[in-house]
Amino acid sequence: MTQTATRKLAVIGAGNMGNAIASLFVSHGWLAVLIDPSDTARESSRERLLAALPQSASQLVWEADLQAAAGATLVIEAAPEIPALKKEIFTQLEAVCARDAVIATNTSGISINQLSAPLTHPERFLGTHFFTPADVIPLVEVIACDHTLAEHSEYVMSVLREVGKLPVLVRKDIPGFIGNRLQHALAREAMSLLEKGVASAEDIDTVAKWALGIRLAITGPLEQRDINGLDVHHAITEYLYPDLESRQTPSQVLSDKVQQGHFGVKSGKGFYDWDTPERKASLQEKDATLRQLVKLLGQR
Ligand SMILES: NC(=O)c1ccc[n+]([C@@H]2O[C@H](COP(=O)([O-])OP(=O)(O)OC[C@H]3O[C@@H](n4cnc5c(N)ncnc54)[C@H](O)[C@@H]3O)[C@@H](O)[C@H]2O)c1
Repeated sequence: MTQTATRKLAVIGAGNMGNAIASLFVSHGWLAVLIDPSDTARESSRERLLAALPQSASQLVWEADLQAAAGATLVIEAAPEIPALKKEIFTQLEAVCARDAVIATNTSGISINQLSAPLTHPERFLGTHFFTPADVIPLVEVIACDHTLAEHSEYVMSVLREVGKLPVLVRKDIPGFIGNRLQHALAREAMSLLEKGVASAEDIDTVAKWALGIRLAITGPLEQRDINGLDVHHAITEYLYPDLESRQTPSQVLSDKVQQGHFGVKSGKGFYDWDTPERKASLQEKDATLRQLVKLLGQR
């Protein structure tokens, strides 16, 4: 057994993200306990992970009670995005975990300072923001709050590198961190273009994928501006910024879909109809293609 096999990860919330995070650590030799009060969630997590990692069954445990986080070196919370619920979990974890255990949250963008408020020892608290699918996308944002000790963020960054991830330290605790701020700026403009009837959802996505996305995998937005010329970019921003979508509330097209119960893949309909056999198959193909791309780009 390697040294890492003796380390224990506690994952709070055995949903989409919790399962992917546990699967990543277990496949790198860690023991993982998935803690979730829902019998259904624990059962479906057990089925999913044992089917994916049959050889790692002895490294996986499912529990309903947070007491099971005792003895964990690292705790990653992936419970629903509800601040009060998360804060309650952290308060309970403090009573259970050793003083030197690091407690991390996978929040999509809630302020880490805000989430750390109820903690007596916020110096070992930080954000680890994984991206979906968490077992494929290399990048993880590590967000320190004002109290996080550098030794704890450095420890988490080193552990993430060990399990094959590419961690980036977010130096300022800002809502949405880096990834979700960039992602939401793009999505807000895409929905605005759709509302204005500029193009179909398919065509907007085709431009994003085949003009921007394909390049973004190799050249970041700031690098790309250097390549295009900052003088050119400056001239464009002067006439374009005033015309870009800047609304402060959810896009109307988004609110309408949510009100109609069209949540996307999980309900079968969103901007697309996901109930057709072709679209269902395309979801699996997307994961497989992402894995190939990550391999090609050399981040694994
Ligand atoms: N889904 C994504 O793409 C994504 C990406 C990055 C970050 N996140 C963040 O990760 C977190 C989890 O998201 P998800 O998509 O896995 O959600 P999910 O709904 O799939 O899973 C959440 C799980 O938490 C469980 N849970 C509820 N109350 C709990 C409690 N008190 N203690 C422990 N577990 C509890 C639920 O039973 C459920 O199984 C959220 O904060 C979300 O914003 C999600």
